[in-house]
Amino acid sequence: MVAGSSLRSGAWFRTAVFYEIPVRSFYDSNGDGIGDLPGVTEKLGYLSELGVGAVWLLPFYRSAWRDEGYDITDHYAIDPSLGTIDDLDRLVQEAHARGIRVLGDLVTNHISIDHPWFQEARRDRSSPRRSWFLWSDTGKEFSRTRVIFRDVEPTNWTWDDLAGQYYFHRFYATQPDLNYDEPAVRQEMFRVARFWLGHGLDGFRCDAVPYLFKREGTRCQSLPEVHVFFKELRAVLDAEFPGAVLVAEANQSIPETVQYFGDSREFPMVMHFPLMPNLYLALAEEDPRRLRHVLQATLPAPPGCGWAYFLRNHDEVTLEQVSDDEREMFLWVYGKYPRTVLNGGVRRRLAPMLDGDDTTIVLMTALLLSLPGAAFLYYGDEIGMGDRLDLPDRDGVRTPMQWTSAANAGFSTLPPERLIRPPVDDPVYGPAARNVADERGRPDSLLERIRQLIALWSAHVDEFRSEAFLAAEPQVPSVFAFWRDQPATRILCLYNISRASVSGTVRLDPELKSTPTVLAGEATLARSDSQLSFDLAGRRFAWIRFARPFAPSMGLPASSVDRL
Ligand code: BGC
Repeated sequence: MVAGSSLRSGAWFRTAVFYEIPVRSFYDSNGDGIGDLPGVTEKLGYLSELGVGAVWLLPFYRSAWRDEGYDITDHYAIDPSLGTIDDLDRLVQEAHARGIRVLGDLVTNHISIDHPWFQEARRDRSSPRRSWFLWSDTGKEFSRTRVIFRDVEPTNWTWDDLAGQYYFHRFYATQPDLNYDEPAVRQEMFRVARFWLGHGLDGFRCDAVPYLFKREGTRCQSLPEVHVFFKELRAVLDAEFPGAVLVAEANQSIPETVQYFGDSREFPMVMHFPLMPNLYLALAEEDPRRLRHVLQATLPAPPGCGWAYFLRNHDEVTLEQVSDDEREMFLWVYGKYPRTVLNGGVRRRLAPMLDGDDTTIVLMTALLLSLPGAAFLYYGDEIGMGDRLDLPDRDGVRTPMQWTSAANAGFSTLPPERLIRPPVDDPVYGPAARNVADERGRPDSLLERIRQLIALWSAHVDEFRSEAFLAAEPQVPSVFAFWRDQPATRILCLYNISRASVSGTVRLDPELKSTPTVLAGEATLARSDSQLSFDLAGRRFAWIRFARPFAPSMGLPASSVDRL
């Protein structure tokens, strides 16, 4: 058991950079070709050097491994291929000693078809487990429910000979959905959450939250009952594990996504799915207007809450929430290689999507960091590692972390062909070109640029942690500009998302008399009383700080109030 409470005070998540780790792909500590929990512990020094404040571990529970651990067979055990409970305790303890919080992944919607709960249910209609799942004689119910893995599953109902009925599954047929109208299921999930928080976890990324309840005639997503359930879970956490955080994975429209904050009573953090594809679209269009619209529609987050921004994760870039025209443009720009598109989205890593351009990767990372909320990085994106389109499903973006230039990427002692997945093997993004050992300490490397950026952000985190966000008008169409305000300082963030050099001006409030300082990025500045002129090269950014005369009675615009 680990004491983690001192790290969990207040809205700590507003001051942390998060780092997502598929444990099996990170580091193999025991030479069996599979990344494991002790492997993550061994690499905590690297994470701490990078400036990571929290890690999110993909499911490490006992699993059938048909969906990267999202198909659990025992919620209360660590999968033997990843280690033991003691290994997890040690990982949490050592992470906490370095000031790094540890999030698990709470998979509530479904389990593995091999889980004993489903095995009992399918064999015996009178089993108490039968009502833990959704059964049908016709497979015709809930016909308005969209199929998520549409390239693989034709329908959400699958016939089961043993059960003599169809069962419902929102994802793969090997992942039967649990029935949340069954009170015992809800209680069991509370138990699961308590169990792992009891082992010192600081919270969970919550998987597939919109889908828990099903109602005939609806799309079976984001129903009011879902919010009731998560508000109850939140109340349990607040009472028993204060400061533990829940991050919602809700890939929905803006109005539906915003609801997961539940007026500060549901999820403290919600993944910003509405912004993510727009970041890439804005870059392709060299026009930030769509970013302004999405952010103005979603900020500020309610008190005590914050958005979780990300560019990539372990899934494909989902394009479910964009229009047909936008999808077409996205695929035209980012999905041009054969076998790129999966379930309508793009299964590529950040670096190849951005043509391996480190400057653009730095620009986009800086943008995430400077928005109100927290940035989530995906392992390996900080070194610009690539993907493998020859691997099935989403495995191509889950290849072994590239620690060294060796053919096995220094991920394991085994040769490449004996690893859980083959490492990237192309000359541009593979281990020979992109790896931690070679990039560490080399000032112009992507790793070093990202590390420095995080260090600068951390040094000024008190100035970035409020919800204050005011769009600025830089008089240049390709520059995304906004102010982040605190009572004592204002930071102007400028992002030139075009490839061309630009010059522009931003109007300055009369109160801003101080000389601006460039905190990060590169810009040439000149100020007069009423405006700041700037030159920005292509795909460059700048965080520019002004001291403001401290006058507590002055009052800030409503959206600028520090809510923490
Ligand atoms: C996870 C996926 C997973 C699915 C089913 C998603 O939201 O991010 O990786 O396949 O849930 O569990």
